[in-house]
Amino acid sequence: MKICFVGGGNIAQAIIDGLLKSQLPPEAIVCIERNQEKIDLLKSQKITVASFECLSEDIFDLIVLAVKPKDALVVAQKIEDLAPHSNILTVVAGIGISKYPTSASIIRSMPNTASAYNKGITALYAEDQEAPAFKNACDLFERVGHIMVMENEDDIHAFTSIIGSGQAFLFQVLNIYLEELKAINKGRVMSMPSIFFKTL
Ligand SMILES: NC(=O)c1ccc[n+]([C@@H]2O[C@H](COP(=O)([O-])OP(=O)(O)OC[C@H]3O[C@@H](n4cnc5c(N)ncnc54)[C@H](OP(=O)(O)O)[C@@H]3O)[C@@H](O)[C@H]2O)c1
Repeated sequence: MKICFVGGGNIAQAIIDGLLKSQLPPEAIVCIERNQEKIDLLKSQKITVASFECLSEDIFDLIVLAVKPKDALVVAQKIEDLAPHSNILTVVAGIGISKYPTSASIIRSMPNTASAYNKGITALYAEDQEAPAFKNACDLFERVGHIMVMENEDDIHAFTSIIGSGQAFLFQVLNIYLEELKAINKGRVMSMPSIFFKTL
């Protein structure tokens, strides 16, 4: 399987870390990224960092769209121009399949950063779930954790709020709890475990 990530930020990096841990060779991964810090990290992992032109020069089983939602449609159009009819696996939250350029086959996914430790949980949806590209997408995410195949695209939204962002809300609540405990403790700094043990 040969994969091209477009966007090599937080979530792409988590998936790449997990893929490398699953023994996928770095030669199987190409990344298009513009941020120098992220480029340096990718290169340190022996990942090829390329420009958009590689999409017309090489054939990828999957092109993983991993940019922020604000950039997603512009980047998807670039992919469409350079590699029409390609298989795009999007991890972008909140943009439905019908919004993307039509000739591409779009697979939606919602991974999380636990993929870096091969303990991710990823929701997947495509209109054609028998297509080889969908099977490739399932294989990719099974390498980095568990998958849940959705029957309806709308289920991705529910999954996103529970698995994608859910933990962040819990950590936020725990953080408020911690701050309140510090205040009660009159500003004396306690380590996180000792605070929790004392409150149990
Ligand atoms: N983070 C998560 O836990 C998570 C989980 C599930 C899904 N997602 C989805 O994943 C997507 C990416 O999130 P993220 O947190 O990984 O974002 P991120 O850290 O900002 O990564 C996106 C990267 O893509 C680069 N980029 C954007 N447009 C580009 C272009 N035209 N050419 C080359 N590089 C380009 C960005 O560079 P610049 O910084 O220069 O713009 C950035 O380095 C989002 O749509 C989000 O909904 C994220």
